[in-house]
Amino acid sequence: MSDQIDFRQVVHALSDALDLVGIDELQHGKRVAFMAVECGRAFGFTDKTLDRLYHAALLHDCGVSSTTVHHHLVSELDWAGSEDHCHRGHDLLIKHELFANLAPLIHHHHTHWEQLTDLDINNETALINNCIYLVDRVDALVAQQGIDELLFCKDEIRATINKYRGSFFASLLVDVFMDVSANEFFWLTLQPRHLNLYLAEMSLDSQVQQINQDCFLRIANMFANIVDAKSPFTVEHSHGVSRLAKHLGLLLELPKSSCDALEVAGLLHDLGKLRVPDEILEKPGPLNQKELAIMKQHSFDSYQILRRINGFESIAEMAALHHETISGEGYPFHRAGLKLSKEARIIAVADIFQALAQNRPYRTSMTGDKTMAILEEMAASNKLDQEIVQTVQKNFSSCWQAATNSADEG
Ligand SMILES: [Fe+2]
Ligand SMILES: [Fe+2]
Ligand SMILES: [Fe+2]
Repeated sequence: MSDQIDFRQVVHALSDALDLVGIDELQHGKRVAFMAVECGRAFGFTDKTLDRLYHAALLHDCGVSSTTVHHHLVSELDWAGSEDHCHRGHDLLIKHELFANLAPLIHHHHTHWEQLTDLDINNETALINNCIYLVDRVDALVAQQGIDELLFCKDEIRATINKYRGSFFASLLVDVFMDVSANEFFWLTLQPRHLNLYLAEMSLDSQVQQINQDCFLRIANMFANIVDAKSPFTVEHSHGVSRLAKHLGLLLELPKSSCDALEVAGLLHDLGKLRVPDEILEKPGPLNQKELAIMKQHSFDSYQILRRINGFESIAEMAALHHETISGEGYPFHRAGLKLSKEARIIAVADIFQALAQNRPYRTSMTGDKTMAILEEMAASNKLDQEIVQTVQKNFSSCWQAATNSADEG
């Protein structure tokens, strides 16, 4: 992991991860960011405010981990539970020094303008929340129409938004939106190939900010919270894998840089799970072939997101390989034996250990003895690394403590 990390690349990677929650409706955050910036520019916001608006819009749905909640948000124009995720997202961002200034901008991004003006927030913050709300609703309508039909349906979408002028949305903002969305450029840019180019240019214009490893570690923790919040059965999973992987790295006397990388890779290895529908993750029984096929995408999704950050190649690889086995029967690359680094093997052991020690929808947590027996059997059948499993066995209590944050071995 490099010592200086590009903040813009991190925000883009986070936004890619959040977009996964849409399953097939990808790039929601990016379309909202593009439309918000176009409206903000026409509104006359300063470059500094536009930069904040852009980043806030990319991350505006960080309070949504559940595919069920996401489905409500894109299929209904106004939904009774919609404000919960705004508060959750605000509470996540406010805790991190780099995102704290974005938190107020998304705190009320599903609040009607009529109610927003009663709240004790300044006018610019209220307008930005409402701008994100307006374009977010445009994108919900876009999702219902289909991205390739937009030139045909743009007037219908514009008319729907105009209906809520002065009630859901500030009249001033609706006027700006009607203005910027009158041309074809606005709608054509929502298509993925054009959108990516627009955002690449936008991000070149935005301020370069380098962050160090400590700062990134806190961001990784924030994202582990989003992944782990997806289901009550995965609470603490990423944190447990991270703690145990680092602990094993130290026990195996790996260099400090490897132990630090293991800590981060543990936190982020399951980012791709954001794309797994809730009903599969919470199914109270074995998965069928189709569900298994969907589940098997997640480690590759984690890889694709993380490898876009410069200096993250080795962390991306550790996350990518956490379901590979020494025998080469894992996924997604079927990589075997010596082609799996020690670090990748450690994450694989830590992932299984933590999962066994945790309640899952189809079983309660395993006892310490049963967990160890399963790991040993997997090492004997060449799925997990023998030396690492032996290390776990010799240091069982401290490994259990790291994985579960509890001394009680079941
Ligand atoms: Fe949204
Ligand atoms: Fe996984
Ligand atoms: Fe995992």
